[in-house]
Amino acid sequence: MNARVLIVAALASALLAGPAWLAAPVRAQSSDATGLANTRDFGHANGAQVYATICAGCHMPDGQGARGAGEYPALAANPKLAAAPYVEMMVLSGNGAMPGFAGMLSDRQVAEVTTYVRTHFGNRYDDVVTEQDVKALRASLATASAD
Ligand code: HEC
Repeated sequence: MNARVLIVAALASALLAGPAWLAAPVRAQSSDATGLANTRDFGHANGAQVYATICAGCHMPDGQGARGAGEYPALAANPKLAAAPYVEMMVLSGNGAMPGFAGMLSDRQVAEVTTYVRTHFGNRYDDVVTEQDVKALRASLATASAD
């Protein structure tokens, strides 16, 4: 019974946390379409593989984004990617219609996929993003949202 109360409380706080979570089940369709569920050993995937498996489903394989049922911004030639922590934060926590992948990706994978999108699709931001950067950011996000 206590467990049930806890689950309800957790759900309620997740819903209160923001509309991003409300819309999550709808968007899960496009993530599932990437075949992620069938990917074995995903923990070993590198940045390019993470991009192809997760991100490309919404941002498209060449990063040009998409418009239709939703709006998925282009990552190609996107000046906002100049700020590495912005990209890391999007990948970890998501925003708006983008889900976060903190629970799915290791620090190394977040660093690698960040580097991948910042050095592909016409982006030339080649300052190094390290696993330690992501670890620190993840820790600060966890502190900020501790409930
Ligand atoms: C389910 C669809 C979906 C998936 C999967 C997804 N994104 Fe997004 N992404 C979005 C949407 C929608 C936005 C716009 C969010 C907003 O309104 O702030 C976005 C925004 C972004 C932005 C900010 C762009 C800008 O111009 O502000 C970055 C960077 C980004 N995504 C990177 C990624 C990476 C890297 C991955 C894979 C790890 C990924 N996304 C996976 C839907 C997705």
